[in-house]
Amino acid sequence: MNQTTRTRSTQEWQRADAAHFLHPFTDFQSLARKGSRIITRAEGIYLHDSEGHKILDAMSGLWCVNVGYGRQELVEAATRQLRELPFYNAFFQTATPPAIELAELLAEVTPPQFKHVFFSGSGSEGNDTVVRMVRRYWDLLGQPQRHVIISRKNAYHGSTMAGASLGGMGGMHAQGGLPIPGIVHMEQPYWHELGRGLSRDDFGRVAAGWLEAKILEVGADQVAAFIGEPVQGAGGVIVPPDTYWPEIQRICDKYGILLVSDEVICGFGRTGQWFGCERFGTRPDLMTFAKGVTSGYIPLGGVMVGDRVANVLIERGGEFNHGYTYSGHPVACAVALANIRLIQREGLVERVRDDTGPYLAECFDALRDHPLVGEVQTCGLMGALLLVKDKASGAPFPEALELGMVCRSHCFGNGLVMRAVGDRMIIAPPLVMTRAQIDEMLVLIRRALDRTLADAQRNGWL
Ligand SMILES: Cc1ncc(COP(=O)(O)O)c(C=O)c1O
Repeated sequence: MNQTTRTRSTQEWQRADAAHFLHPFTDFQSLARKGSRIITRAEGIYLHDSEGHKILDAMSGLWCVNVGYGRQELVEAATRQLRELPFYNAFFQTATPPAIELAELLAEVTPPQFKHVFFSGSGSEGNDTVVRMVRRYWDLLGQPQRHVIISRKNAYHGSTMAGASLGGMGGMHAQGGLPIPGIVHMEQPYWHELGRGLSRDDFGRVAAGWLEAKILEVGADQVAAFIGEPVQGAGGVIVPPDTYWPEIQRICDKYGILLVSDEVICGFGRTGQWFGCERFGTRPDLMTFAKGVTSGYIPLGGVMVGDRVANVLIERGGEFNHGYTYSGHPVACAVALANIRLIQREGLVERVRDDTGPYLAECFDALRDHPLVGEVQTCGLMGALLLVKDKASGAPFPEALELGMVCRSHCFGNGLVMRAVGDRMIIAPPLVMTRAQIDEMLVLIRRALDRTLADAQRNGWL
């Protein structure tokens, strides 16, 4: 524990927090009333708060702590680099060894079309780079009218002006005059809401067909790119049918538009493959990453640039007027190198693919017998449980009840971090999680579901 943590009580932390800290995605007044939970340290898959509670972190921080907390290699890599060269930029024809080595290693672990990377400081910035790069690409090819990027409703691509515009969250668009021009949205591949009555496979093809419809609506010669998360994370861990992505690829190829895979959550092993595009069988031209690249130990993001785009930027380009102070930050890159080597050495991707991913799927399947659980989905080490009022019809609870939040409170009260997206209860635990820890998590999840059910029965919501 560091010194400051020892010297203040929870109440003192909460008072100072409410007085000065505007938290992201937070109702400030409500947080000030309730007081934050103060997380003071972590080890493995467990967090510890200022009240001495131990909490199983089934969200990997914020979908990022893939290798778990307390990994000394990462700490040492950062410390060594801080001592040697804490910062130098990559502008003006300079580079640092960690940035070069990380670029080399990323080219090795990503699909073969990726030999180049553009670094950013976060996933949102990475997606800003995507918008700039996609438009630059078509400009260089003499087709500047191709500027429209198609995304999906309920997508999450970050919170900067471009990231939030690419995202399909109505609440975000409502604040700040978004989306920016040239970004349009189509429906998401959410079978439970949009595909009931069709088989999942048929629905996957129908949902991908909405891309073709949107291309024709916009005008095929205006469309620059399509962007999507292989599995929509923040939207509620919506795993598309297996038929969806191959059809999206076919349509992108047919119209010659760029395919962008936002791998900020799905990258670095989350789906049981290094990248989600490999799990779903696409060949993206650009791939955004962040989070798992450093397991969240230090901020880093970027865009993998496929040969199709890289060759144009390099051969025809001239100067690309874009970049960030922290593009290729040497300390962040040193941590990423240690993190990726650790993932390789411990075989974490293979472990998720062959062992813990299938085991999680089995355990989540067993929750189908719970009276509140409608749909169940997993993909690698992420999963969702949809709470429904009526299992047979899939009818939801009234939104105003906020049943997901009720369930989430029971999780928190019970030593488990699980997130609620509406009534979808979602997890994305660290990839180091063992079978025994999955069992332990399932006990906590079932207990939270039972307590939520008891609330629903007591209040006559069922
Ligand atoms: C798919 C996806 N893209 C982009 C982002 C934005 O990343 P950041 O919060 O690092 O800016 C997120 C964050 O959750 C994400 O899930």
